[in-house]
Amino acid sequence: MKVAIGCDHIVTDIKDHIKEYLEAKGFEVVDCGTHDFERTHYPIYGKRVGEKVATHEVDLGVVMCGTGVGITNAAQKIKGVRCALVGDVVSAIRAKEDLNCNVIGVGGRVSGVGMIEDIMDAFFAAEYHETEENNKLIEKIDSLIVEDHCINDEHFFDEFLEKWDRGEYHD
Ligand code: RB5
Repeated sequence: MKVAIGCDHIVTDIKDHIKEYLEAKGFEVVDCGTHDFERTHYPIYGKRVGEKVATHEVDLGVVMCGTGVGITNAAQKIKGVRCALVGDVVSAIRAKEDLNCNVIGVGGRVSGVGMIEDIMDAFFAAEYHETEENNKLIEKIDSLIVEDHCINDEHFFDEFLEKWDRGEYHD
């Protein structure tokens, strides 16, 4: 199975650990960054992971930031992505079984590494329970997003990056 993984600068070490964890289990992992601890913007990486999933370049995606809130919101905006932010194993299983989520999100600063590993195990082992009701619900949810103007637009976040270059961020 091919998996895309992405994070912001707050949790790069945890992303690297989970990447190795998944690789040790036989997954092929595409690392969408970020790769260091320099301040960056989580939507960039949520978008990258989401696009790889939506275009079927990979089978599933993993995203993480400090709380997981920001990057899951970004990934969720990509047409074709169903992303769940979870902090426990039951939610990870239900995300796959009920909603066929194709991106799982965690908060690297709020969930322990052991819990994140358990969430990965649960999410990747779980299978979608395909029922007419679940299919209809997912179809409805997927139809909510109609815009895809930014897909594969590498310059989509340029204004934020330029702001960083100008020294306008202070955290
Ligand atoms: C840092 O930018 C922090 O806001 C981020 O890691 C995340 O927690 C946002 O949801």
